Amino acid sequence: MTLLITGGAGFIGSNFVLDWLADPACGHEPIVTLDALTYAGNRENLASLEGNPRHTFVQGDICDRALIDRLLAEHRPRAIVHFAAESHVDRSILGPGAFLKTNIDGTFTLLEAARAYWSGLQGGEREAFRFHHVSTDEVYGSLAPDAPAFTERHPYEPNSPYSASKAASDHLVRAWHHTYGLPVLTTNCSNNYGP
Ligand SMILES: NC(=O)c1ccc[n+]([C@@H]2O[C@H](COP(=O)([O-])OP(=O)(O)OC[C@H]3O[C@@H](n4cnc5c(N)ncnc54)[C@H](O)[C@@H]3O)[C@@H](O)[C@H]2O)c1
Repeated sequence: MTLLITGGAGFIGSNFVLDWLADPACGHEPIVTLDALTYAGNRENLASLEGNPRHTFVQGDICDRALIDRLLAEHRPRAIVHFAAESHVDRSILGPGAFLKTNIDGTFTLLEAARAYWSGLQGGEREAFRFHHVSTDEVYGSLAPDAPAFTERHPYEPNSPYSASKAASDHLVRAWHHTYGLPVLTTNCSNNYGP
């Protein structure tokens, strides 16, 4: 079964794609990477996968519903792992519009496409499907140096346009689960570094 990875040419997404395909335990499952290649995305991150029959790269926007529908119908993924985002806090202060567009509208578009696709699945395929939304600990605000770590029970207190747009997307993901039953996972990791 295939995985659809959004933002797979970015920092974390590309490491995920490379690790996944290199891992004998899961690498037999092909990956379709969808990435708009904004300033943050780099095709070179996936250069080692050139010619790999288990990897398909598609340049496109998560706001493009027709494209997402086509990819889901064609590749029939068992999961969507959603990394694509405007992710640089400083840029969100200079120009928040793009953050609202990609992080909120883009996640909404993906959720709606995933819902339509998942609704058409049967039996085991429907049971197994997951929409994994990759979010950030910044939705919980800022921690003082000696404060205890955030947990998922901490109230949402986003402080930047970036974290506000990610918080909004988390709420959409939650609502698509509670309203429509879409099987979702949201992870709120802290800063990543290194490969
Ligand atoms: N980097 C971190 O430390 C960190 C920490 C917590 C959470 N996150 C989250 O993890 C995810 C990945 O972060 P990252 O650091 O790899 O980000 P990144 O900026 O390196 O990569 C984002 C990728 O998304 C693509 N993209 C942007 N807009 C798009 C659109 N409209 N359609 C399709 N693709 C688009 C970009 O081209 C890029 O390849 C993000 O959702 C981010 O919020 C990152």
